[in-house]
Amino acid sequence: MCSLEHEAAVVDEMEQLTAHLRTQIENTKRGEGFEFEDDEEYAKLKMENTKLKHRLAILNKAIVAEENSQGSPSAVVTQYASAALPTTDSEMISITEHITDLFTKAIAVAFPQLAGTSAIISPVSATTPKFGDYQCNSPMSLAKTLKASGINKSPRDIANEIVKHAAQSPLLDRTEIAGAGFINVFIKKDYAVSAISNLLRYGVKPPACRKQRILVDFSSPNIAKQMHVGHLRSTIIGESICRLLEFLGHDVLRINHLGDWGTQFGMLIAHLEDRFPNFVTESPPIGDLQAFYKESKKRFDEDEVFKKRAYNCVVLLQNGDPNSIKAWTQICDVSREEFQKIYDRLDITLKPLGESFYQSRMKEVIKLLESKNLLEEDDGRIIMWPGERSSGIPLTIVKSDGGFTYDTSDMAAIRYRLEEQKAEWLIYVVDSGQSTHLQNIYRAAERAGIFNPKIHRADHVNFGVVLGEDGKKFKTRSGETVKLSDLLDEGLKRALDKLLEKERDKVLTPEELKAAQESVAYGCIKYADLSHNRTSEYVFSFDKMLEDRGNTAVYLLYAFTRICSISRNCGEDFSDLAKVLDSGATIELDHEKEWKLAKTLLKFPDVLIKISKDLLLHTLCEFCYEICTVFSEFYDSCYCIEKNKSGEIVKVNHGRILLCEATAAVLKQCFYILGLKPVSKI
Ligand code: ARG
Repeated sequence: MCSLEHEAAVVDEMEQLTAHLRTQIENTKRGEGFEFEDDEEYAKLKMENTKLKHRLAILNKAIVAEENSQGSPSAVVTQYASAALPTTDSEMISITEHITDLFTKAIAVAFPQLAGTSAIISPVSATTPKFGDYQCNSPMSLAKTLKASGINKSPRDIANEIVKHAAQSPLLDRTEIAGAGFINVFIKKDYAVSAISNLLRYGVKPPACRKQRILVDFSSPNIAKQMHVGHLRSTIIGESICRLLEFLGHDVLRINHLGDWGTQFGMLIAHLEDRFPNFVTESPPIGDLQAFYKESKKRFDEDEVFKKRAYNCVVLLQNGDPNSIKAWTQICDVSREEFQKIYDRLDITLKPLGESFYQSRMKEVIKLLESKNLLEEDDGRIIMWPGERSSGIPLTIVKSDGGFTYDTSDMAAIRYRLEEQKAEWLIYVVDSGQSTHLQNIYRAAERAGIFNPKIHRADHVNFGVVLGEDGKKFKTRSGETVKLSDLLDEGLKRALDKLLEKERDKVLTPEELKAAQESVAYGCIKYADLSHNRTSEYVFSFDKMLEDRGNTAVYLLYAFTRICSISRNCGEDFSDLAKVLDSGATIELDHEKEWKLAKTLLKFPDVLIKISKDLLLHTLCEFCYEICTVFSEFYDSCYCIEKNKSGEIVKVNHGRILLCEATAAVLKQCFYILGLKPVSKI
């Protein structure tokens, strides 16, 4: 925060506090706020609460005393914050989580009545170093809470108490109380040096966190229909979420909930029977499935006899008729091969588990819902209200023709995922338009006793629509949906043009040029998607995504290659970093820009923990961009290699080259999560 913003925040806090106090006084005068006082139950609970808080305070005091007496990093680790502190040298620490834990405990010790209130810690912008590296502004709101319970303490006093009661930590250099009651926290250089050395020695490791079994439902296109840009978004975002959660050590199930069941198969099968009568013995050369779908749809809409046959085919298929199953499998195979080509190009891993998988489970889940009296008849259909009766939209569990719906398969799927797969956390990467549908599914599942929010978590990772450069829904010039393979081809072509424009073909071998082309093309498409807040719509523009300045994949890929080349061109061997460290090379963080770069890199675990909570990947893109800009400041002001007038290397600053290597290592891990494939030459 700059100092003006800081001031404004203080004024704002004070104003709020004053307003709050005024209401308190008014209420007290009127006798409100005391109205529960004589309620016996309330008094009992209040007493119990006070006792518990005292008990907690005693325990916390003991923990702090214990930690202070031992003072070693692992001693601080033990009790409270499984998420914040390492159990081995190789794990990285989320500094934000660590300070949050320290201060949360300190609050509980200093003010037993506030036990359980979490401290709020945020990193300070590097542009205002006087406010420290991290800041805690909890004292202001704590003062309000205390005031409400009749204790008058200024935020500054509270800040002092928190600092006094905080356990010692090897991460912290010092704290300062500033302004109205901010605690500014300064990180210790020794800690940063050892953390960066560990990172070089053991590789970039995730922060500790509780391991969970997580199911991510992403991509999920529909068989026989074109995979469109909406599915592309889901594919890109879902893949990155899986990579992030896997890196954090979770057990991740990557599920492709293919739309491979439903009434559209009736017309497809009927059409297949007519077009390829030998389909049972000979694999039909369907070729263009898209055209095949259109043909059958046309017949379905125009020809009543065909329509009847199509309906009949659905019934046959759902009852397991072997020929219908055969036709259905053939259609699905053609579609899946098409999808797989896209997945291979974009390096996406998914387990296909489409709606058809749930056929028997749909029948089972209906029985369960029936046994719990949750189903109702409505005009020939069978429905279920997700919450209170008549509120919201009911789910259609069985259609009037006896068929199942998207609701039925999702009810069966949520049950399978929680009960059979034993997932604790379900993530649906699906466009924002399906938000109501998914909310209804969780609510209905909760009503049916399948989903328990106390032990399960469900997230709809929603995203907005993709727009063309004209600001309208992304379409081809002739108004058709864009074929994804065409889009990727165009990306390749544009990426090559860009590389040729920069005359990279003169420097790179044909193989290197091809690797660079693919890295840039697929990288820029993924990065353009991920670098926008996913909840808003975004404009698809090859021109913008291929820019080599600003927060783009091209800029980052170039920056990364440049950073990697520093150690390669210094005339010494940096291939084995542990060996370099063992030979006595040390990282010094004396220069202001070295220190700034080190602190930026050490934010990596904070960033990951944050994203694992909100699943907003643009934060990781912003972090990559920040690393690259902070790195260029460092590189501009700090010599890594000194050369004489004739260009010979006269001095190599080993510590700084190590810092370059640490930067490359962190960036590389971020790139992996974002699906960017760095190349050594570009
Ligand atoms: N196939 C669906 C569509 O294209 C997406 C499926 C999302 N997953 C789910 N469990 N409903 O819209």
